[in-house]
Amino acid sequence: MLTISDKEFKQLTEYIKANYGIYLKAEKKALLTGRLSNVLTEQKFMSFSDYFNYIITDKTGNAVITLIDKITTNHTFFMREEDHFNFFRAKVLPYLATTSKDKDLRIWSAGCSSGEEPYTLAMIIDDYFGMDKKWWDAKILATDISSKVLDIALKGVYNNEGIATIPASWKNSYFEKSNKEKSVLTNKIRNEVIYRKFNLMNEVFPFKRKFHTIFCRNVMIYFDNETKIKLVKKFYDLTEPGGYLFIGHSESLNRNDTQYKYVMPAVYRKET
Ligand SMILES: C[S@@+](CC[C@H](N)C(=O)[O-])C[C@H]1O[C@@H](n2cnc3c(N)ncnc32)[C@H](O)[C@@H]1O
Repeated sequence: MLTISDKEFKQLTEYIKANYGIYLKAEKKALLTGRLSNVLTEQKFMSFSDYFNYIITDKTGNAVITLIDKITTNHTFFMREEDHFNFFRAKVLPYLATTSKDKDLRIWSAGCSSGEEPYTLAMIIDDYFGMDKKWWDAKILATDISSKVLDIALKGVYNNEGIATIPASWKNSYFEKSNKEKSVLTNKIRNEVIYRKFNLMNEVFPFKRKFHTIFCRNVMIYFDNETKIKLVKKFYDLTEPGGYLFIGHSESLNRNDTQYKYVMPAVYRKET
């Protein structure tokens, strides 16, 4: 395996942080080289400097797509941090259902990985509204920077082990068995999620309307504090008054750094 010098590590990690927000400390050297070693071997690069030059000069976009797929951590699962979903169903949906003027719910799963989070939300919404769901436009926007995970999400096919945490009645209503190992989500649920590639480091967030709820869970743990504060400010400006921000349970917001009000662990609200 090729080794990375301190200078090469600094060059590559500064590029990654500036463009994708992901902050890799010196302790992550082995992780970074491990994740990229196949790419360097397969493409016959002689050093990390050669690889870096390729990244910054490649006009096809492929170099960056592969880099992002390798450096992002995409771990996720259905019903992850379940108390968030319980709160969403018990408090957020009833609030939105009674205050929405035009039966339009705007929910964003930012850093959606392979789709388990937005699809969990789509199942909750469908189950909550039941027969009345047809009167609501409650499509979920789900974004990520990794093409690899977005491809998985779009397919909506999951290992049976991966859907074990889902209530049995939802498995029956929202999944069809595709074979012994895998199940596929029904079109009804798949069509409720709109996937887009979007880098949360972009200066401009091109959304015409504000969101009632933003989920950005287990994404900002990879960012430094300054990047996180800047991003949370953008989320705040994009949240409807009375709307919510959900972050991961291992993350928190310092009350001096945000106008969101703390509701419960990892849940924040913009005042009405
Ligand atoms: C650990 S997963 C979290 C998935 C899901 N939200 C959850 O909590 O289970 C983090 C995701 O954030 C995405 N991500 C990291 N940096 C990003 C950026 N700058 N813009 C958009 N997505 C990013 C990664 O590609 C990855 O899929």
